[in-house]
Amino acid sequence: MDLSVSKTISRILKVNHAGEFGAIRIYRAQVFVARYLIPDLVPFLSETLGHEIDHCLKFRAAMPERGSRPCYAMGLWGIGGYTLGLITALMGRNAVMVCTKAVEATVHQHLTEQLVFLEGRDEALKSLIADIQIQEIGHLDYAQAHICPSPFNAPLEGLIVVATEIVIWLSTQGAVTRMTRALEQA
Ligand SMILES: [Fe+2]
Ligand SMILES: [Fe+2]
Repeated sequence: MDLSVSKTISRILKVNHAGEFGAIRIYRAQVFVARYLIPDLVPFLSETLGHEIDHCLKFRAAMPERGSRPCYAMGLWGIGGYTLGLITALMGRNAVMVCTKAVEATVHQHLTEQLVFLEGRDEALKSLIADIQIQEIGHLDYAQAHICPSPFNAPLEGLIVVATEIVIWLSTQGAVTRMTRALEQA
């Protein structure tokens, strides 16, 4: 396989694994707070947390044979995710839904680009990502259906998207930029 292709595939896994790691922390923090403040959201958040744990394990398992390793700044993802989860859960139900929408929409966009790139290059990884994407769309749809209109939604969502992109960039040492560039050129 072309060296640049295998490098891009390795980066895709690194970024996705870090993303799932962060998502686990977001939902874990939200479940913790929601038990006290928004109990009716706990079933959705717990189920979603279970999905993200499963995604993280599956990406981790796909790494060795593709010469990929978890980024060493995973702790940053963890702290960033947990903080985002805590703050949004303390802000209330709508902030949790806006957070879910922002994070899941970002994930969805990355996965869609990756699927195009992996076509004919790594069919096994492509089908793994396609399966995971079905659940991510479910998370996104649930959030979109439960957001209440508010003038604060757009700025909060923008803030979360920017924060998510910065943390993913820092924790993957820019691998996400090189991944996106390679996907655009392909
Ligand atoms: Fe996920
Ligand atoms: Fe998700």
